[in-house]
Amino acid sequence: MERTFAILKPDCVEGKHCEEVLRMMLDDGFKVLLAKPVRLEEGILREHYAHHAQKPFFPSLLGYMTRSKVFLLLLERENAVAELRRLCGPTDSNEARKAAPQSIRAKFGKDKSENIIHASDSFETAEVEINRFFTKREIVWAKKPLRLEELKADVARLYG
Ligand code: CMP
Repeated sequence: MERTFAILKPDCVEGKHCEEVLRMMLDDGFKVLLAKPVRLEEGILREHYAHHAQKPFFPSLLGYMTRSKVFLLLLERENAVAELRRLCGPTDSNEARKAAPQSIRAKFGKDKSENIIHASDSFETAEVEINRFFTKREIVWAKKPLRLEELKADVARLYG
């Protein structure tokens, strides 16, 4: 079984799309092993997006990712990394509406910056990101898949 990592980004939380995105993931066959609502700090984002540090959109990316809380997810299934990238659709939400109309970004994203969700791009990156955003203790305890009811309670805390 493979693991991957996702962030439901500030626009997903602000638009109150988290529950529907989680339902899409569960219906698609993902198991959610950890779900953590947090407000991300600039330091961890500079690490996470280090490969974008020289891009012109980097300052606005930091502003976007810190402006509201996010929902961090540890997900599991066969071929989890590739399957989640497929379910998310292309980075640019407008392209997603053409190329993958049933995808998460096609349904909820605005454009190529405000695109609702981050998903790890390889098995190796997923392991790095899981260890960056979750503590060792959280990862050790992540054995039993969370049920939709439990996730709904976390989402309510996130909105509260
Ligand atoms: P993500 O795939 O999580 O990783 C990098 C993020 O940078 C991406 O999602 C978008 O939110 C943002 N991004 C990527 N390309 C652009 C772009 N050309 N202009 C603005 N933001 C972008």
